[in-house]
Amino acid sequence: MKLVFDADLRRYNSFAVAARAACLAEIGDVRELERAVSLAESRNMPLLPLGEGSNVLFVGDFPGMALLMRNRGIEFDQDRCEVRVAAGENWHELVRACLAKGLHGIENLALIPGSAGAAPVQNIGAYGVELERFFLELECFDCASGTLRTWSRAQCGFAYRASALQQVRQQPRIVCSMRLRLEREAAPVLHYPALAEEFDGSTEVTPQQLFDAVCRIRRSKLPDPALLGNAGSFFKNPVLSLAAFDELRQRFASPPGFPVEGGVKLPAGWLLDQCGFRGHVHGGAAVHDRHAVVLVNKNRASGRELLDLARKMQARTLAEFGIALEPEVRIIGAEQP
Ligand code: EPU
Repeated sequence: MKLVFDADLRRYNSFAVAARAACLAEIGDVRELERAVSLAESRNMPLLPLGEGSNVLFVGDFPGMALLMRNRGIEFDQDRCEVRVAAGENWHELVRACLAKGLHGIENLALIPGSAGAAPVQNIGAYGVELERFFLELECFDCASGTLRTWSRAQCGFAYRASALQQVRQQPRIVCSMRLRLEREAAPVLHYPALAEEFDGSTEVTPQQLFDAVCRIRRSKLPDPALLGNAGSFFKNPVLSLAAFDELRQRFASPPGFPVEGGVKLPAGWLLDQCGFRGHVHGGAAVHDRHAVVLVNKNRASGRELLDLARKMQARTLAEFGIALEPEVRIIGAEQP
């Protein structure tokens, strides 16, 4: 286990904002995790599982222990079409490895930044597929009881960008590994508009072609965090009632929307684009010029500047459309806006 006190977190958050943690622990295995958690407990430090820091905005310093799971390993069970992955593996590399082994289904989730262990925490999703579809179970360390637990899909309580793992922030459950069941016979999910367009409506698509297309689409719209600090979509896509969506239709010719239980899911990016936010600059922070739901660290932005920009965006969409946007990104050091 590697411990650093008063650690600089700039390299450990994809917004690349300056922040410090009272302690940063790099964890190699479950034993080390147990030791780190009891050390934090003995010093009364809150815990923050950080993964690759791709879904977090630091507005202030973190007064506790940030945990980086560095355990590695991807094991395949070809007979059962299963894969077990350690939390510290990179998610995209897992997608690539599964593709190479002829196990399919998660190609739509290619290039999502972050670690494999973080994937179930917010039930990552893209281009018509969510992780829960292939999820079997995970092993997590329950900091409240100090024990290792196995959680089934039902226990994880997956929803849109959400899971039961997010519920106890003070004494978190820290994902150690996860098992997925994939498909040998590829059944590509191609209904998402950007993909249907990419393949011109054709369904004769190989998993490799799907993987490549998802990577291409993402690269064309979303900034690479290694080059421009960001955390992907900053807000969740809101769900509107049918009546509210109809009202929007009176104002705009064809607003994009996806039918879901309870209404229509509207892309927050589209809403923010209508408000003129694309490319908007606020100090060192800005809205990406190719996607209005992506906030970027354009020029040494502070977490506060990024948060102020997010609040401005929320106020505008509320005033213009009566829609309250909810952050997808976890905010540390300030009230969730
Ligand atoms: N749009 C605009 N203007 C913009 C941005 C988008 O008009 O500035 C329109 C697009 O033209 C399109 C629609 O909004 O018609 C949807 O845009 P996009 O396909 O980029 O998807 P999204 O709804 O903005 C969601 C996820 C992404 C995921 C994509 C693809 C959320 C919060 N975001 O974005 O996930 O990659 O769908 O499935 O659900 C993330 O979670 O960090 C993330 C990037």
